[in-house]
Amino acid sequence: MAQIAPSILSADFARLGDDVAEVCGLGIDYLHIDVMDGAFVPNISFGAGVMKSLNDYATVPYDVHLMIEDPDRYLEDFVTEQTAFLTVHQEACRHLHRTIMHIHELGVKAGVSVNPATPVSLLEEILPEVDLVLIMSVNPGFGGQKFIERTLHKLEQLRELRERHGYHYLIEIDGGVKESNAARIREAGADLLVAGSAVFGAEDRAKAVQVIRG
Ligand code: DX5
Ligand code: ZN
Repeated sequence: MAQIAPSILSADFARLGDDVAEVCGLGIDYLHIDVMDGAFVPNISFGAGVMKSLNDYATVPYDVHLMIEDPDRYLEDFVTEQTAFLTVHQEACRHLHRTIMHIHELGVKAGVSVNPATPVSLLEEILPEVDLVLIMSVNPGFGGQKFIERTLHKLEQLRELRERHGYHYLIEIDGGVKESNAARIREAGADLLVAGSAVFGAEDRAKAVQVIRG
């Protein structure tokens, strides 16, 4: 069985607290918090204030995905008692090692993410230092996009590297995950699956969570 982190990007923002409380009751592992700045990605979502307003509704930890330029400016803002992972993009950090160390100093787990066109080889030097690697299986910016098949082999690569070197990171996949492709994605090596529209848009959310986790 894998873990699942529903993305609140696909929740109903007009009743976000209730939507979050409902999915937290379905046996999920984390809440995936998609933060977009309109610069690193062509969309603006919400900031730390909205995330913190959910603290009384969320009963699982946060898996924060920062899709923002120069994320060092905002790391502190996203550290709360409920923050488990804080993930930055390799493409958005000029000094990635410094940023990862900074996240560790803040007392939360550090993740690094890569866009579909960025190879795993660019992470070689940082893999020993991270707690999570997030493979984007769509170009980040929007929920409800189609899974890019080509990204699957990165999961296999990461699993192989982890085994060979004794690294400890979790392997996460984000974008286009749904009930019909989740099994293949888990088999390729994903430990943690993000699902936005496939959970919040489902007729039967409980079933969607169950099928995607496997
Ligand atoms: C995309 C976000 C994803 C998105 C996934 O930029 O990082 O987390 O919410 O949405 P679905 O699961 O609908 O592809
Ligand atoms: Zn995300």
